[in-house]
Amino acid sequence: MSPREAWATRVGFILAAVGSAVGLGNVWRFPFQVGQEGGGAFLLIYLLFVVAIGFPAMLVEFVVGRRTDRNPVGALRQLASGPFRYIGWIFVATGFVILSYYSVVAGWTIRYVLIGLRDGYVADGAGAEAQFLTVASGLDAVGFHAIFMAIVIGIVALGIRRGIEIAVTVIVPAIVLIAGGLAIYAFTLEAASAAYSYYLTPDLSVVAADWQSIAPAAAGQAFFTLSLGMGVMITYASYLEEDRNLGTDGAIIIGFDTLVAFVVGLIVFPILFTAGVDPADPGAGAIFVSLAAAFADIQLGWLVGALFFATVAIAALSSAISLMEVVVSYLIDERGMDRPTATAGIGVAMFLLGVPAALDLVLLDLFDLFADQILLVLGGLLLSIFVGWAYATEAIEELEKGIGPLGRVGSLWIWLVRVPVVLVLLIALILGILEYVSFLTGPFAEWLGW
Ligand code: TRP
Repeated sequence: MSPREAWATRVGFILAAVGSAVGLGNVWRFPFQVGQEGGGAFLLIYLLFVVAIGFPAMLVEFVVGRRTDRNPVGALRQLASGPFRYIGWIFVATGFVILSYYSVVAGWTIRYVLIGLRDGYVADGAGAEAQFLTVASGLDAVGFHAIFMAIVIGIVALGIRRGIEIAVTVIVPAIVLIAGGLAIYAFTLEAASAAYSYYLTPDLSVVAADWQSIAPAAAGQAFFTLSLGMGVMITYASYLEEDRNLGTDGAIIIGFDTLVAFVVGLIVFPILFTAGVDPADPGAGAIFVSLAAAFADIQLGWLVGALFFATVAIAALSSAISLMEVVVSYLIDERGMDRPTATAGIGVAMFLLGVPAALDLVLLDLFDLFADQILLVLGGLLLSIFVGWAYATEAIEELEKGIGPLGRVGSLWIWLVRVPVVLVLLIALILGILEYVSFLTGPFAEWLGW
């Protein structure tokens, strides 16, 4: 067997992890969560959770990956006993389902770049909605899903150094540059100051009144945006050397991800305010309907829009790469497949699984809710229980490599994992299951014609 691959440079690992973290979660999900959950109030709680929940949970995955040098299935089989040995399977299954429809949504973003450059965005609400519906499902959506998946396969098949590391070295700086430019542009818009004050002044009375809905939404967003709960960070850390300071690396990765989400807010809200859209309205259609319509209303909107959607598309690409790598690393390590075969096989299977989601939005929701709100949270919860309660001493020892003795900080970390992380995930799981049940008995039952 050939030796296990490794990152060529320190920056390579950080860029790949940032590329994974920065994705649809930052550009699509974050602004509409802010809009739905009360603006600055949500932002404040979200930042708190990123630090108190996201950071410790990311270190858990890093430690497991570097300790074992394995894919998530192999890693957990090596470390854990009893039912915890199967956590890795949940991760691989989750990655499989998420990427199948993530690629569909990414296909829409490619379409929206072309719409800006070729046909133009539609200004009136109903027209924009109709435009979205033609893009979102049907044979065209299948076609763009195929194109996106083919690009992901091409990159992952080339391997860690020649494929993933090179791709993220181009993608991540490009995201930062384009997003920075768009934020400066948004600053010049008429309603910018009203938008900033909505976004940046947390209203503590809103926090007090709505914390029951703000807190789970903020926790879920923190987990999703940092690519946690699915073994991505286990897999990426398994290609690392032992002398790395995982604490610093984690802080840099989280800092970047948070910065990008923050800057996206600085772009989206001035545009929505200038076009007169209430940010609480858009919901999940936010960037594809309201924001696209807003592009039709502003100066040079076609160009700004095309650049914005191009950013979304490349951000989705580097996240999709990480999702595929989890499954591919499993096939290489555990099944002894070679990388190109594993990648092509998995890519085609994921494409096929995504086809129903590309044909019908209700089916896309069916996949999305299940993977996002149940599988992801369940995987993260089980891993945190295992590492926090059954593997704490070894975990601290592993974290200390490359940092030095941690003393109290080590116990602080483990206690954050044992209680706040576990509790938040448990609550999120319960809420997620309830929401899924109401989806199954509501929109899905209706779709089935019951
Ligand atoms: N973090 C990515 C985003 O913000 C999505 C993502 C990629 C992800 N890999 C993941 C989410 C693994 C959860 C688990 O879009």
